[in-house]
Amino acid sequence: MPDRYAVIGNPVAHSKSPRIHAEFASQTGQDMSYELLLAPADAFAATAGAFRNSSGRGLNVTLPFKSEAFRFATRCSERARAAQAVNTLKFADSEIFGDNTDGVGLVNDLLRNLHRTIAGGRILLLGAGGAARGVIGPLLQQRPARIVLANRDVKKAQLLKNCFVGEIEAGSYAALAGRQFDLVINATSASLTGALPPLPGGVFAPGGLAYDMMYGKGDTPFLAFARGERAATLADGLGMLVEQAAESFFIWRGVHPETAPVLKLLRQATDA
Ligand code: ATR
Repeated sequence: MPDRYAVIGNPVAHSKSPRIHAEFASQTGQDMSYELLLAPADAFAATAGAFRNSSGRGLNVTLPFKSEAFRFATRCSERARAAQAVNTLKFADSEIFGDNTDGVGLVNDLLRNLHRTIAGGRILLLGAGGAARGVIGPLLQQRPARIVLANRDVKKAQLLKNCFVGEIEAGSYAALAGRQFDLVINATSASLTGALPPLPGGVFAPGGLAYDMMYGKGDTPFLAFARGERAATLADGLGMLVEQAAESFFIWRGVHPETAPVLKLLRQATDA
């Protein structure tokens, strides 16, 4: 029997993770299977527990269960504690280990696939929900000049800022007028509803990168805005998806898969 893994979520049918992990497994010769696991909204722990009891070795966790997965784990990595969310569970005899690879996935996509330098850069992070929280720690570790958190609900941004130590500030969208950033990262859920965060014009520094953590066919409203603002580079979250998966794969199997060919495959499928 191959070792069993799955991605658990609700909904989960759309997930690209089975494809990604199947590619990683064949590339590295790992004997494993990777399934889709739909959990009822009120039964994350029961569903994850049943998978573990039927010889499951690990899970990726997607919306809306990342906070529940954090509570489900019996031991967590420091980065999962900072994120207060778990996207990777590893089952061992005596423990349920929880980790969060989203932030390192974003950082690795920026460094390896997009060839950007984060150190010394001015970063604008839009949003103050779970998606933003998950990436702040790994971004700060790269020693940017500053991270500015912007959110409609400014209080929420300030509370989030207070959870981290480093060059980080929080404020409103209106307060961004007249400021420029090297990296502008959309961690809001606005793209899901076809909405655009209320950004003033002029936030992209010359050579600036616009990064939307969402992905899909064509520009999100944020990337369309960035294109109009003549941001030098536009990127969606597909690279982050593949990089966070690679880090999960490493946690489970102890092997680093190559991400570039898998990202290329997914890009071709998305654009088709
Ligand atoms: P997630 O876990 O995906 O980050 P969340 O915790 O529900 O989701 O947070 C959603 C984030 O997207 C919030 O920061 C929210 O801003 P507010 O806190 O001000 O509501 C942000 N968001 C959602 N729709 C938005 C929009 N149309 N414009 C700007 N921000 C938006």
